This record gives sequence, structure tokens and C-alpha cells, in this order.
Amino acid sequence: MSFDRSVKIAPSILSADFANFGAEIEAVEREGADWIHVDVMDGHFVPNITFGASTCAAIRPHIKTIMDVHLMIAPVDPCIEGFAEAGADFITAHVEAGPHIHRTLQAIRGAGAKAGVALNPGTPAEAVSELMDMVDLVCVMTVNPGFGGQKFIDMTAKVRALRAMIGDRPVHIEIDGGVTPQTAPLVVNAGADVLVAGSAVFKGGSVSDPAPYGNNIRAIRSSFA
Ligand code: DX5
Ligand code: ZN
Repeated sequence: MSFDRSVKIAPSILSADFANFGAEIEAVEREGADWIHVDVMDGHFVPNITFGASTCAAIRPHIKTIMDVHLMIAPVDPCIEGFAEAGADFITAHVEAGPHIHRTLQAIRGAGAKAGVALNPGTPAEAVSELMDMVDLVCVMTVNPGFGGQKFIDMTAKVRALRAMIGDRPVHIEIDGGVTPQTAPLVVNAGADVLVAGSAVFKGGSVSDPAPYGNNIRAIRSSFA
């Protein structure tokens, strides 16, 4: 498949019903999700625990689009194989999660997945400047990771710097945290092409009433179209 720089909406199942992931994923895909964003937290790298590779494997058959796994865990290297085996299309690791991000990215591609690197709000774009030929995605955190529903932190200048650094390489820029119809245009104009959104997509809806998911996705899309 050729590289696609059109803007994609990636709902985060962090804001879905944890007792009903399969049906939630199917509902949000029917309502227009382009990718499914899967937040893995370890209670150590971030102050919250979600789930691991076995849950990823269980939800994989329900995902028809792209499984985008965001690892907020440290150490990350011992777990990569497991998430690749679970069927992740993208595996993203944090540059702050350990001393050897270069090795981590090699391991992700070596395991057969596309490699992503995430930067916390306090980490400059330059932290990934040596990695541009080893990544398929750069994730710019626009909240401090750990929780959904936080307020957007403006990282527009960082997104522009990364866009210039990427040049014509086939590397996505993903925005994660506080994406709404108000904040989406800022990051899209700066060069982002994957918008993760948890609370802004799942608010007001449910598996038995999924229409709000579609309305929420369309509200984000039309904010920058
Ligand atoms: C935060 C997670 C995000 C989160 C986004 O640590 O990585 O993916 O779910 O949630 P919202 O869109 O509610 O800020
Ligand atoms: Zn995330």
C-alpha cells in the first residue's frame, strides 16, 4: 500500500467501555474510524495501568482497519515481540522510556511491525533527529501520558519542526491527547496526519447508541476540511 498522508482519525479505546472492547471497536469503525489506537500503560512509566499483549491479541480480530499500539511502558524491549505477535500494525515506544530507543526501534521493525516513536510534551523534536530513517510514525504527545480527557498542550511548533525533519520520508505525524474540533485544525495545519482522540470520539455514545461516535468523528474531520 502506498503511503497515505491524508488525515486519519484514530479513536483511543482508553475512552471505550473496557468490558466491551470488541463491540466498541466494531461500532467506532462502522461510524468512521480510520485507525484504532490502543493505549498500553504499566503504572510505572505512567501513573496508570490499562492492559497488555493478551488483551491486544483478543481485540485484534475485531479490528478491520489499523491496530496502532502505543506503549507507555518501561522497560519496553522485553515486551515488543509479544505485541507484534498480538497483531499490532504499529508499535510506538517512548523516547523517554529507556536509554536505547535506537535498539528498540530496530526490534520493533525486526518483529515485523511498523515502528513509532513518541515524545512527551517536555521532550524536544531534536531528541528524534537521528531516528528519521528508522521510524514509520512520530507521535507528538499533547498531554502528559497516563490519562484520557486532559487539556490539550500546544505543541504546534514541535509538529512543524518534525514535519521539516521528516521531509519526503514516508513517516506519519500523530497527535495524541486533547484532540477536539477546536484543537485539530492547529495540528493539521502544522503537518500532522494521524489524530488520536479518546474522549472527543466516545463522549455521548455507547455500543447500543453509537451514532454520537459518528457525529463526533465528523465534527473533528470537518474542523480542518
Ligand atoms: C494518553 C493516551 C491517549 C489518550 C487520549 O496517555 O496516550 O491516547 O487516550 O485521550 P483524549 O483524547 O481523551 O485526550
Ligand atoms: Zn495514546
